[in-house]
Amino acid sequence: MQHEYAFEMAASNVRFGAGVTREVGQDLLDLGVRRALVVTDAVVAGLPPMAIVLDALAAAGIDAVVYDRVRVEPTDVSFHDAITFATGRDIDGIVAVGGGSVIDTAKAVNLYTTYPPADFLDYVNAPIGKALPVPGPLKPLIAIPTTAGTGSETTGVSIFDLTGMHAKTGIASRRLKPTLGLLDPDNTRTMPATVAASSGLDILSHAIESFTAVPYTARPRPDRPTVRPAYQGSNPISDVWSLQALRMVARSLVRAVEDPGNDEARAEMILAASYAGVGFGNAGVHLPHGMSYPVSGHVRDYRAPGYAADHAIVPHGMSVILNAPAVFRFTASASPARHLEAAEALGVDIANVREADAGRVLADRITWFMDRLKVPNGLRAVGYSTSDIPALVEGTLPQHRVTKLSPRPAGPDDLARLFEDALVAY
Ligand SMILES: NC(=O)c1ccc[n+]([C@@H]2O[C@H](COP(=O)([O-])OP(=O)(O)OC[C@H]3O[C@@H](n4cnc5c(N)ncnc54)[C@H](O)[C@@H]3O)[C@@H](O)[C@H]2O)c1
Ligand SMILES: [Fe+2]
Repeated sequence: MQHEYAFEMAASNVRFGAGVTREVGQDLLDLGVRRALVVTDAVVAGLPPMAIVLDALAAAGIDAVVYDRVRVEPTDVSFHDAITFATGRDIDGIVAVGGGSVIDTAKAVNLYTTYPPADFLDYVNAPIGKALPVPGPLKPLIAIPTTAGTGSETTGVSIFDLTGMHAKTGIASRRLKPTLGLLDPDNTRTMPATVAASSGLDILSHAIESFTAVPYTARPRPDRPTVRPAYQGSNPISDVWSLQALRMVARSLVRAVEDPGNDEARAEMILAASYAGVGFGNAGVHLPHGMSYPVSGHVRDYRAPGYAADHAIVPHGMSVILNAPAVFRFTASASPARHLEAAEALGVDIANVREADAGRVLADRITWFMDRLKVPNGLRAVGYSTSDIPALVEGTLPQHRVTKLSPRPAGPDDLARLFEDALVAY
């Protein structure tokens, strides 16, 4: 195998500022959009950012058709509903107003209405789908996040739960990247504390995972530049964004969750989400995310408070962070210095810490956040037990796109031990 020698930075366009939401009408006009599909969920539909967006579109003379049935944590079935709604409508641009669930649904609608595939799984990541390339450019998509978490406004990734498989998977292409993300800290003020905590811990894990991902030079060299994956492994540019996101999380996550009126902390968190998005969008995530997909898919009856879902839900950020301490205790031996650097960016004094303790120190810092933010104490607290581990391992194994980026390879036995360790977090 010839090893990779190059890495790439795919830029994401974002604009940050309190009140920037109202610029969306002029932005759409400038992009040549006249008839926009506005995608949101049932809760965000009734919140100020939606009213501001609809006013801005009306003021710009843009026709708006609203789809407000996005499922909190979308599935293939809910994607299908949104795609069916949009198909045949005369729209030339899309605005997503909401959290990652909304932005990911809008990306799928954009792709499936622009280039309808023969089969739903054609664009979906291999080996679950065929991972066919997106044939050409998509319609303009402006993403207006109302959570501070996924960074989906910066990434070319759309994640959904494949109901038949009980695990999440996704579609990845740089062409899915929103044309523009409008980062407006006014839009996250109404988040329930549990949503702020869970989405904030998603940022934290995105940043550590992309910083500790296998280096890009360990991957095989691609035949053609265009097939170089977006999840290319850790690299010097992603590192900058990931480390800075960790410093911002250390400063502002607890303050933003505990006091939603703290404008400064909320502003830093919505920026941190995009910083981490740029980091992981160009490096990738690994085991905490790979293991989270069956954790959310196999949920039986746990319902996270604050989530407006008519179904059992272990929210994404929670399902990720529940695995994270066990994972970093396991991966630290592969790159102890990097794990320590991440702990330091999160505020730990590492001056007297031995490299052998890097995993424990980073994990302890994560469980400190979990405890302080009242996250359930491990997988057991959201309904899992030892007897579920084989199914959780089976749901993780096909997540090659992310699991192969783990700095320390994890086979089925390792994954079983990691899930066992994650049953109780702190
Ligand atoms: N595409 C990517 O790069 C990427 C990355 C990470 C996660 N994800 C996906 O994103 C989804 C999670 O997104 P999320 O964490 O942003 O949450 P979400 O979109 O699922 O929303 C969570 C809850 O908060 C509510 N809500 C959202 N904004 C609110 C506000 N301002 N005020 C009050 N309530 C509000 C929603 O109605 C919902 O009930 C998952 O499906 C996950 O897999 C995608
Ligand atoms: Fe995530």
